[in-house]
Amino acid sequence: MSNERLTDATPIASLRPASLTELGAMRRAVELARRGPAHGPNPRVGCVILAPGGSDGPDAAQRPVLGEGWHRGAGTAHAEVAALADAQALGADVRGATAVVTLEPCDHTGRTGPCSIALLGVGIGRVVISVADPNLTAAGGAQRLRDAGVDVVEGVLEEQGIGLLGAWLLAIERGRPFVTLKLAASLDGRVAAADGTSRWITSDVARAHAHRLRAEIDAIAVGTGTVLADDPSLTARTASGELTEHQPLRVVVGMRDVPAGARLRGPGGELLHVRTHDPAEVLAALSALGVRHLLVEGGPRLAAAFLGAGLVDEVHAYVAPVLLGSGPSAVADLGIGTIADAVRLVPREVVHLGPDILLVATPAAATPTAATPHTSLPRNAVPGTTVPGTASTKEN
Ligand SMILES: NC(=O)c1ccc[n+]([C@@H]2O[C@H](COP(=O)([O-])OP(=O)(O)OC[C@H]3O[C@@H](n4cnc5c(N)ncnc54)[C@H](OP(=O)(O)O)[C@@H]3O)[C@@H](O)[C@H]2O)c1
Repeated sequence: MSNERLTDATPIASLRPASLTELGAMRRAVELARRGPAHGPNPRVGCVILAPGGSDGPDAAQRPVLGEGWHRGAGTAHAEVAALADAQALGADVRGATAVVTLEPCDHTGRTGPCSIALLGVGIGRVVISVADPNLTAAGGAQRLRDAGVDVVEGVLEEQGIGLLGAWLLAIERGRPFVTLKLAASLDGRVAAADGTSRWITSDVARAHAHRLRAEIDAIAVGTGTVLADDPSLTARTASGELTEHQPLRVVVGMRDVPAGARLRGPGGELLHVRTHDPAEVLAALSALGVRHLLVEGGPRLAAAFLGAGLVDEVHAYVAPVLLGSGPSAVADLGIGTIADAVRLVPREVVHLGPDILLVATPAAATPTAATPHTSLPRNAVPGTTVPGTASTKEN
């Protein structure tokens, strides 16, 4: 089988395959993992249990699928345990079987027990892994399995495995939340008119798409300036205006108070006010809460603060074919006096959303390890969207 790239558009087969090669099982495991939530402190992981075999290599003959599972979020069974439970429910004998799993089985006791021990306990004979666990407190599962005589293969379809982990992987590697900075601006880079009005610069197509991204991230931040100017609710909503099941934590940065009657205090995610001007302090506070992915939605001064601190991993710039001529710029003064000091971005994706365009880019100095955006972009959010991708606007 080839190692063709899986994308977010890859259809998820709802029917469980009867038999697969190990490579096919890893593709299936990636599909299964995508059923889990993109938000939350834990990664998305999928697992397929195959009947014994595999010594001829991962691309050899197909073997019966004995069980499959995926992680449904913090506090629930890990993918390996879910797959073993599935096999048990089907009455399958898993002794000597192969576990094909997208992330190295964990070796620590958190809210659930170590997956390495669970696999050893049922007599698994071979484990095929896509990505090694970068989380030092959880890693070591592969070594424990090897030490116990299990045949362990790592790095299978690793690119797909890394793509699946997205922002989580970077957050673990960097020891802080992955930061996506969203800018929604006119063609001349303004985020509001001279009188402060800004609803709406970008289209409803873009705004609807933005809400899907909000529903996938852990936290969303704005400065007090935006709170006082726009009274945003910072919720994730469906096209019909209802709150989605998952609501991001709402974060306000700055010294001034959030007014008692602010929409931010209404229905939606919890509110966290971080009274600081230091983006690193914001990220430390969020890390302590298990936030892996933060969406910074402005305004210009908060955007400048994160950019200036080198704490932006990805930029989503929504540009509308609108000219304002005056009004605040998307990013406040960065202290750049000459073109040689400009913050350069590497474009990753361009998406057409109705009349607007979304540019996904990464700061050149913070280029992710893989050459793809690490945000799992919502696809085909709105009928009529010309190119799959994400979008947004100044959305309150
Ligand atoms: N089009 C869009 O997508 C969009 C999005 C957001 C905002 N906007 C527009 O942006 C305008 C508001 O701009 P803004 O720059 O005032 O908003 P802002 O960046 O949200 O808030 C600025 C305030 O945040 C606090 N702050 C936190 N960290 C800071 C730091 N490192 N440096 C400086 N200040 C820091 C300060 O308030 P304290 O004094 O309280 O500490 C500062 O006055 C509004 O017109 C709004 O409509 C547009």
